[in-house]
Amino acid sequence: NNQMDQESLNAYEFLTMFYHHSLVHANGAEEAKAYLTGRGLTEETMKKFSVGFAPYKSDVTTTLLEKKSFHLHHLAHTGVLSETEDGKVLDRFRGRVVFPIRNHLGKTVGFGGRTIRDEEPKYLNSPESKLFQKGRLLYNFDQARSEMKKLNQAILFEGYMDVITADQYGITHGVASLGTALTDHQAQLLKRYVDGVIVCYDGDNAGIEAAFKAAERLKKAGLESRIASIPDGDDPDGYLKANGKEAFERKILNQSATYMSFVLTYLKRQYDPAIEASRMQYIDEAIRYIAALTKPIEREHYARELADEYNLSIDTIMGEVESKRQHIM
Ligand code: CTP
Ligand code: MN
Ligand code: MN
Ligand code: MN
Ligand code: MN
Repeated sequence: NNQMDQESLNAYEFLTMFYHHSLVHANGAEEAKAYLTGRGLTEETMKKFSVGFAPYKSDVTTTLLEKKSFHLHHLAHTGVLSETEDGKVLDRFRGRVVFPIRNHLGKTVGFGGRTIRDEEPKYLNSPESKLFQKGRLLYNFDQARSEMKKLNQAILFEGYMDVITADQYGITHGVASLGTALTDHQAQLLKRYVDGVIVCYDGDNAGIEAAFKAAERLKKAGLESRIASIPDGDDPDGYLKANGKEAFERKILNQSATYMSFVLTYLKRQYDPAIEASRMQYIDEAIRYIAALTKPIEREHYARELADEYNLSIDTIMGEVESKRQHIM
């Protein structure tokens, strides 16, 4: 009910401050602080993102909440706290570095907690609730919004650390879909503020698969997308730290692929060009995508590329493209 939602919001707000304070000032947070510093975060950045630390001893959090007149059982019911089978209420993030997840109003509605000791799972998130619906939020949307609007562009990352590191390097229009595949709802959220999105997911297989799906969703929402690729299985956070902002902008963002050229490269990976039948399947699939392009110039451009690549006549390819187009329309 509303009263319990309000209590949860108050608790999330309180915990955001408490965890951040624990990270910066508390005894016992040295390891967490060293972990974040070791990952290159400055104290200013930790502050901007209210990065925090949940004390190892779970009852530190619960005792404090009780002292502030929160009802632990209410908070367990709404997912702010966790509850064991025998009814003991706990701080699920104990011993983890925490990243508050804020809604578009800037209110914390959940946390992501990362292990600092290589425990499983690497990230633990607040459970889905009325307040916290991962598929309806984008991490850092509240802080990135004004820069996104100004540049008419957003950068879509996978994770907390990509957004935070990019921000520390002065790239402040980044948001993250938080590991889950981008939803239509998230794409529409972006569409309200920008016309273009650069998808900048991790350079591993999972990242490439997710980028393909994200690109399709962005297209469906009417957004112009480009897809960056990070070499050697690295991610934006790691790339920035290893190569700096200038290289990231010049080699990653500026070199990002258009939707169509990314899709064609992506599809091609699934076929074997040395086998004739496989090659024909690829061409057929590529034509399907080209046919779906709304601008005639783009259809011709990619048809020509395909024709050149496989030594086919442009007329043949364009004929196929236009006939497939009849079917879609
Ligand atoms: N994620 C999650 N639960 C996991 C793993 C990932 O919720 N067990 C989400 C997190 O939001 C994470 C994002 O997916 O930030 C991307 O995952 P991954 O690339 O594995 O993590 P990184 O952000 O690169 O984390 P780190 O750099 O801290 O290792
Ligand atoms: Mn109860
Ligand atoms: Mn990843
Ligand atoms: Mn990653
Ligand atoms: Mn990473």
